[in-house]
Amino acid sequence: MGERGGSAGAAGPAGGGGGHRAPSPARGNGGSRRRRGGPPKPEHPSGHGDSAEEPAGDFRCHTVQESLLSSASGFSNYRGVLNWCVVMLVLCNARLFLENLIKYGILVDPIQVVSLFLKDPYSWPSPCLVIGANVFAVAGLELERRLAAGSLSERAGSALRCLNLLSILCFPAAVVLLLPSVTPVGAAFALGIHTVLFLKLFSFHDVNKWCRQRPQNAPKTPQKPPQGGEEARRANGDVAHREVEYPENLSYRNLYYFLLAPTLCYELNFPRSPRLRKRFLLRRLCEMLFFTQLQVGLIQQWMVPTIQNSMKPFRDMDYSRIIERLLKLAVPNHLIWLIFFYWFFHSCLNAGAELLRFGDRQFYRDWWNSESVTYFWQNWNIPVHKWCLRHFYKPMLRRGVGKRTAQAAVFLASAFFHEYLVSVPLRMFRLWAFMGMAAQIPLAWLVSRFLRGHYGNAAVWLSLILGQPVAVLMYVHDYYVLHCNNTG
Ligand SMILES: CC(C)(COP(=O)(O)OP(=O)(O)OC[C@H]1O[C@@H](n2cnc3c(N)ncnc32)[C@H](O)[C@@H]1OP(=O)(O)O)[C@@H](O)C(=O)NCCC(=O)NCCS
Repeated sequence: MGERGGSAGAAGPAGGGGGHRAPSPARGNGGSRRRRGGPPKPEHPSGHGDSAEEPAGDFRCHTVQESLLSSASGFSNYRGVLNWCVVMLVLCNARLFLENLIKYGILVDPIQVVSLFLKDPYSWPSPCLVIGANVFAVAGLELERRLAAGSLSERAGSALRCLNLLSILCFPAAVVLLLPSVTPVGAAFALGIHTVLFLKLFSFHDVNKWCRQRPQNAPKTPQKPPQGGEEARRANGDVAHREVEYPENLSYRNLYYFLLAPTLCYELNFPRSPRLRKRFLLRRLCEMLFFTQLQVGLIQQWMVPTIQNSMKPFRDMDYSRIIERLLKLAVPNHLIWLIFFYWFFHSCLNAGAELLRFGDRQFYRDWWNSESVTYFWQNWNIPVHKWCLRHFYKPMLRRGVGKRTAQAAVFLASAFFHEYLVSVPLRMFRLWAFMGMAAQIPLAWLVSRFLRGHYGNAAVWLSLILGQPVAVLMYVHDYYVLHCNNTG
């Protein structure tokens, strides 16, 4: 586990532990090397560094030195404490796990998951909606082809583009609201796919418009070299492909490659990997399978009973019990969110990218080190952040909109989509998700104004750990009041 703290003080003859040890090849000169962040070795009063060379009869074993935990000691190696935290975390969770099993028995039921997507096995509205989304993609491509051929004016093209994009959001929402056979989970899945399509087609139209506006003799932007040096180049490759130029890119093949690729920002020529790494793909697919099961299991076994037990305190308006429930829910909710992050951003997106030999694998950056809320949003979901910057934030700045206003506009647009993805499937408009996202604007200001470094990082973690269960409980409570109250 952790490294041992350095020995303090030189041993006298009675100490017996200071015998000279020859440096082994594996340790290099590690026998006398100070451990990283370890305590400064005290100067021996005799002035001799090694106790083996003590003059006989020198019994002194004390020296002027600070206690390790005082800041003046310069000690900074708390690796062992980190290990202790991990051990405590495992033990606490093992206890929780056992308590949960004793209280509820085994609640995990993979078959029940199917019923979350399908109410009636003969009616498949959500998959039908997803298949139907192709109509909007094809309409977007045909529109661009006409614009490229000059048979449609830019003005008419813009109007049709807006109509097509609006339909992508409105049509599935109307179907979900009008068709009772669509389950909330199935609806959330279908609306998620439509939202992704909306963002992708928005980008597709923008880039094609930029190509039309670019002067004929404008110099071409060269492909960026892969980041991460030689190793990343070998792993992901920078194979030269024949570059597609506008309007050659307006083909089904090019469009569908983009629609399936793990990015929301369109390019005529994406960076490609030279080959499909089968072992890498297999690992990601196994992770996908394992983490899907784990998430479903944790939701059924841990989240659902905790949420169900939270309804009574809500009904009685018992505030201390509500807070206790909230804190109890925060643990499984956060664990599931972390697993979701790894499952989606690392396993799923990398598996998709590997299959398509899509070269740009930066789907997330080190958001866990965020010392400000702004840093978190810049780094946790790179595909969405890139889209926001390229198609919304920078165009607004170029039009002279102030930075603060542009940032607020991006967060409000993001809040709208969060609300759309929750309220429509639940058929219940409560604005909790909208407010959660919109609250990031004042929260970002507060954290950057008053907190720095570790405190800022702790504030970001706290907002993630506590913010989400608040929203979850609000929605579940309202859903329960609307749909289940009559039954008991
Ligand atoms: C709002 C948001 C886009 C701001 O991003 P940011 O990185 O803090 O913005 P910054 O002001 O630092 O500027 C970013 C870019 O704009 C450029 N920029 C700044 N001012 C500019 C100006 N006046 N004109 C043109 N470009 C400008 C910067 O150079 C920088 O470019 P770079 O990315 O190439 O380095 C970001 O917080 C965000 O994505 N928020 C929403 C995230 C979200 O909802 N995610 C959902 C996940 S589920």
